[in-house]
Amino acid sequence: MAAVEISEASPVELEADVLAVPVFEEDLARRPQGLLAELDSLLDGHLARAAEAERFRGKADQLLLLHTLGRLGAPRLALAGLGRRAEAERSGFEGLRLALGQVARAGQKAGASRLAVALPGPLAAPGAARAAVEGALLGAYRFDRYRKKDDAPRAALKKLTLALAAEAAAGEELAEAVRLGEQVAAAVGWARDLVNESPADCTPERLARAAREVAKAGRLRCEVRGPKEIAALRMGMFLGVTRGSAEEPRLVKLSYVPRGPGAGAPPLVLVGKAITFDSGGLSLKPTDSMVTMNGDMAGSAAVLAAMRVVAELAPPFPVHALLGACENMPGGRAYKPSDVLTAYDGQTVEITNTDAEGRLVLGDVLAWAVGTLAPAAVVDLATLTGACMVALGHHTAGAFGPDGPVIDAVLAAAGRAGEDVWRMPLVPALKESLKSDVADMKNTGERWGGAIAAAHFLRAFVGETPWAHLDIAGPAHASKERGYIGKGGTGMGVRTLVELVRAWEPPARAGKPAKPASRRRAEAPARARG
Ligand code: BES
Ligand code: MN
Ligand code: ZN
Repeated sequence: MAAVEISEASPVELEADVLAVPVFEEDLARRPQGLLAELDSLLDGHLARAAEAERFRGKADQLLLLHTLGRLGAPRLALAGLGRRAEAERSGFEGLRLALGQVARAGQKAGASRLAVALPGPLAAPGAARAAVEGALLGAYRFDRYRKKDDAPRAALKKLTLALAAEAAAGEELAEAVRLGEQVAAAVGWARDLVNESPADCTPERLARAAREVAKAGRLRCEVRGPKEIAALRMGMFLGVTRGSAEEPRLVKLSYVPRGPGAGAPPLVLVGKAITFDSGGLSLKPTDSMVTMNGDMAGSAAVLAAMRVVAELAPPFPVHALLGACENMPGGRAYKPSDVLTAYDGQTVEITNTDAEGRLVLGDVLAWAVGTLAPAAVVDLATLTGACMVALGHHTAGAFGPDGPVIDAVLAAAGRAGEDVWRMPLVPALKESLKSDVADMKNTGERWGGAIAAAHFLRAFVGETPWAHLDIAGPAHASKERGYIGKGGTGMGVRTLVELVRAWEPPARAGKPAKPASRRRAEAPARARG
């Protein structure tokens, strides 16, 4: 990833291929002042004239790219619109992130590898500088692993310079914010890489290896379990989903535990959907719906990527990441519609659609988390339902969970992170649609409100443990470029999880001993299975 530097030098002198200057609408509504006035006079009034001619008003998404004719250190100047000042400062400086992502991409298309960004006045705040770093680095993200020909459409970004006034540049808080921005952007890029990998490469074992890598770099603990151990744990839903696949499943637990008294605090548990390919199983998907289903592990990629940053943040409470990784395939041994599976916690589930596989694996992993870790809270991320994408579109994740501090913390974290997350209701009537005639539950309910039914299904496995669920089916994958988002995996959720951990306060009291759900086999006699 590009090296990031903070500079007190005047932006007009900085040597770079592109100098980016973020502009509020208000800045152009009057005669240019400050840096804009200086740039305009160095360019003999060309800046103001070009802005007028191109109708560049500093609106969000507007970009004006100019050649500087040797008058500046940089041969190109990019004015990046931020919209109105008040709006830009809301939403975790998301406008700045988007604007600089767009600049980075446009610069790379013009062959630029060194980008300088002027952050005058209010944009020199640490939060803005962090967003600027995230936006530029993520906009510059490229996925070239499978390109053999040397014809990448965009240059690699090598250097990013932030130009700030001396007072701002020297601040310790600023340096820390910039560092965090770099760490977060690296983690999001890493998550994108995993999502973008072909499913032949990104197998369950590959995700386990990714977790081991994170553990090694951050001194975390990593446990990986294979099919025999998953069977010994009696995760019947997970085992059902993986049956039709030739790839072995992996149950992965990646743990950060602080040194000292915090080690005993009740942990925060993050769970990610890790279906490395979702063909639908015997309820086979049509081809067009299947092509992006290598990204059905985006939740787990986000969770693992967040753990990279957690290792650096070193919070005073434990954080665990859990994933049940497998494929959903229609092989000869595949689980079938009408099968009845027994979950880790003893609940039985009638399979009505093998394409509703994510909730099955997640249900077992959630029950395992609740039964063995006494979590303060569990947050899961999953590309769970097409219905959530229908409801909220491609930019917004749905957040589900009972009222309480966890859902509030998740929504607040998303707001600070600049990720679009919208609360959805757990409509009680939709729980009824999961009633089965033969088992404790069915794995699908009625079509309408499908994202809500799926959330109800998950809820049945977390008992009373505080829990929130993010359905990221829409925003995990992008089919068009927008701001700092390119085509393919987006890394949705990483930033929200990082903010969640940064602000999380574990409940003061020691964790209650694990209180398994009432039907836990440890207490109830094992149910006979056919
Ligand atoms: N992985 C899909 C959900 C999905 C769809 C993610 C589109 C991203 C884009 C999930 O496993 C699935 O197939 N869900 C079904 C559920 C249905 C059978 C109740 C769906 O949404 O159609
Ligand atoms: Mn599916
Ligand atoms: Zn799926």
